Order: sequence, then structure tokens, then C-alpha cells
Amino acid sequence: MTAARPLVAGNWKMNGLGLSLDEARAVSAAVDAQPPACRVALCPPATLVARMADLLNGTGVEVGGQDCRAEESGAFTGDISAEMLADAGAGLVILGHSERRAGYGESDALVAAKTEAALRAGLEPIVCVGETLQQREAGETLSVVTGQVRGSLPASLAGKAFAVAYEPVWAIGTGLTPTLEQIEEVHVAIRETLVEVFGEAGKGPPILYGGSVKPSNAAEILKAREVGGALVGGASLKAADFLGIVTAA
Ligand code: 13P
Repeated sequence: MTAARPLVAGNWKMNGLGLSLDEARAVSAAVDAQPPACRVALCPPATLVARMADLLNGTGVEVGGQDCRAEESGAFTGDISAEMLADAGAGLVILGHSERRAGYGESDALVAAKTEAALRAGLEPIVCVGETLQQREAGETLSVVTGQVRGSLPASLAGKAFAVAYEPVWAIGTGLTPTLEQIEEVHVAIRETLVEVFGEAGKGPPILYGGSVKPSNAAEILKAREVGGALVGGASLKAADFLGIVTAA
């Protein structure tokens, strides 16, 4: 399997009102005027998915959700299913973000079930993994991250379009980034694990880096070994910053 096209995805987290669609419009205008080397996606809060998908339909910018429930429907007040995201026009979904693993106690098994749900609905999952600072300082980074990869990615992903995002928890929203050597070490370990688990099919899926990516550090991070794109938080909220990362890919 050949390597997939790099993917630069913006995770708006719990940010964005209707007015913020102007930023999405500006991103798509620039992407369509000068198509970048990478795929580009925006993942707004659930309230904006349908409107953003309508707005970006037919443009070079894809739309994703930030989470889904594993079940297709039912008595789960406040939750949304993968089918609902797909019905709203999303093509991708972020799963297992550390803010959900930590804040909602999401286990690898739950993330795997959500990933199955995403596949069932025809969504492309972006499955997040990453160590805490405490785990890094204890020398556990590689065992934690490869354990998350094994536990969060169901066998049914083999041959399907998906991405893994390596997001060190201590680099998210902090302005801190790992060294390029640290990024490469983890990305190579993730690739080896993907190949162990999925065989030849494990060579294709892009492994995104996430955590304080900005226009000023994007080019060198995106050039690092086994880095197949970026998952961008804060810097994806403003079109100009996000486009500075997209054009660096
Ligand atoms: P920041 O880019 O704000 O550090 O967030 C990264 C992230 O969590 C993307 O999912």
C-alpha cells in the first residue's frame, strides 16, 4: 500500500458560533484558489457540522466531527452517533482525543467501539493517542502510545481509510512541542505497530502530529519522518494561521 496523502485537520474543540463559518469560508477560498499538497479538513463543534458541510460542499475542504457515540441511536441524552455526523455531511471524525480520554474516562476499548461505529457510518476515523508528561518522564512514552494504538484500533480498520494522530498531552495548548527526534521516535514506533497489527495495510494510513502546531513550526514538523500531516487545535480557529500550516505541508 502506498502512503496516503498527508492530512491537515483543524480541531475547533468547543469553539465557534455561526459567525466563525466566515473562517471556514476563507480557508476553502484559499484552498480552492491554490490547491495544497495535503488534504484539508475542519472539525467544528457538532452544532456547526451541518452548516459547515453545506458551506464547504464541493470545495477542497472536508468536514469532520470531534467525537461520536458507539451506538447507532437510542436513549443517550446529549450524545450524537456516527450516523448522525455522516447524515449532517461529515466525512471524518476525531476519536479518542486526550481531552475525552482524560475528561470522560474513555478507555481504549471504548475508542475502538467508537471507531467501529465510524466505519459502519462510512466515516474516516482519526484516532488520537499520546502520553502525559508524567508518563514521558517515567520513560513510558513508547509503551503507552503503542498500547493505545493496539487497544484503540479495531481489526476491521484493515484496508479502510483512517489516520492516527499522535498528540502528546503535555504539548496540547501549551506552546510546548517535542523535539523532532522525539516526534520521529514515536511516529516510527506507531508505524511499526500499525504494520504489526495490519500487515501491509498498516503502511498507508497517515500518522498526524498534534500539539501546539503553528505556522512557525509546521514546516519542520511536517517534514519529520513518518509525519503524515497535523491535527491542529488553537491555530485552526483563524483562517490565516491554519492556512500557514496547510501551505507548509
Ligand atoms: P493545540 O494545537 O491547541 O495545541 O491543540 C492540539 C489538539 O489537541 C488538536 O486535537
